[in-house]
Amino acid sequence: MMAFLKKYLLPILMVFLAYYYYSANEEFRPEMLQGKKVIVTGASKGIGREMAYHLAKMGAHVMVTARSKEDLQKVVSRCLALGAASAHYIAGSMEDMTFAEKFVAEAGKIMGGLDMLILNHVHYSPLSFFRDDINKVRKHMEINFHSFVVLSVAALPMLKQSQGSIAVISSVAGKVAYPLIAPYSASKFALDGFFSSIREELLVTRANVSVTLCVLGLIDTDAALKATSGIYSAHAAPKEECALEIIKGTALRQAEMYYDGSIWGQFLIINPGRKIMEFLATRYFNWDKVISN
Ligand SMILES: NC(=O)c1ccc[n+]([C@@H]2O[C@H](COP(=O)([O-])OP(=O)(O)OC[C@H]3O[C@@H](n4cnc5c(N)ncnc54)[C@H](OP(=O)(O)O)[C@@H]3O)[C@@H](O)[C@H]2O)c1
Ligand SMILES: *[C@@H]1O[C@H](CO)[C@@H](O)[C@H](O)[C@H]1NC(C)=O
Repeated sequence: MMAFLKKYLLPILMVFLAYYYYSANEEFRPEMLQGKKVIVTGASKGIGREMAYHLAKMGAHVMVTARSKEDLQKVVSRCLALGAASAHYIAGSMEDMTFAEKFVAEAGKIMGGLDMLILNHVHYSPLSFFRDDINKVRKHMEINFHSFVVLSVAALPMLKQSQGSIAVISSVAGKVAYPLIAPYSASKFALDGFFSSIREELLVTRANVSVTLCVLGLIDTDAALKATSGIYSAHAAPKEECALEIIKGTALRQAEMYYDGSIWGQFLIINPGRKIMEFLATRYFNWDKVISN
């Protein structure tokens, strides 16, 4: 037992301590986003719209999308007023995978490349017991998970070239189980599995593209307040600060960021067992063989 502790646990603990120590050393500067070409999906309202406004103030090129054209038009005008290097929108539904793919290509053409892809759009449905609505599960998986995969596949060549970043907006409900949101929770857990795996692959293939999984608690967007009203009474954190924290974590290329307006959640959400098992598993892969194939 002691030998095991000495051999594995202590070195691992030291690695993590070092990681947290060094990652805290780099500081975010708004200039990091100046002139960067950024896509924000689901940016017609809520957290996505706030991210577009922060990016505009930092002088980024902003490309927003969602379904509602009128709202996007307003977001673009406001972004230009706030100082965006450029601001455009393309409207469409992320239920349509062909649109998702074409959107990224078109965005890349308009901005002349891509530095940051912020995957934020979401399909919500009212909190309720899950009974037999298989189509509801399918719809959540399509919009909240499958389209995120399609968008990132389409964007990866540009992101590899720019050594850029992907932000994947998830939720505490994508890390921890809550009742009444089974389809939503499934789609958010799926994001963790897929994008955490991809992060490892990018690392071993030396593609310098960062993947930041953003784990959010309850945020005061109209949609979330309406969905939880009278049913779930946790404190909702401000969307403006939330949006800024997502941009910071992504620009600093963190593997994960956590925001719920408090300081406690981020300590509870860390899953040391998972991290240790992921670390131990790295020894068993024969990368030379996989990469040469
Ligand atoms: N708010 C919270 O409490 C909370 C908590 C944890 C995680 N999150 C995550 O944070 C992100 C933003 O949430 P939010 O509360 O800001 O949501 P929101 O205010 O409802 O905004 C959602 C955005 O997604 C777009 N959208 C919805 N369906 C779409 C579709 N089929 N195709 C394309 N765009 C679509 C909406 O625009 P249109 O309707 O115009 O298409 C809107 O711009 C989500 O990923 C969510 O899961 C939020
Ligand atoms: C990866 O890209 C970032 C951002 O462009 C850069 O700061 C960093 O030095 C790069 N790392 C490597 C190993 O190339």
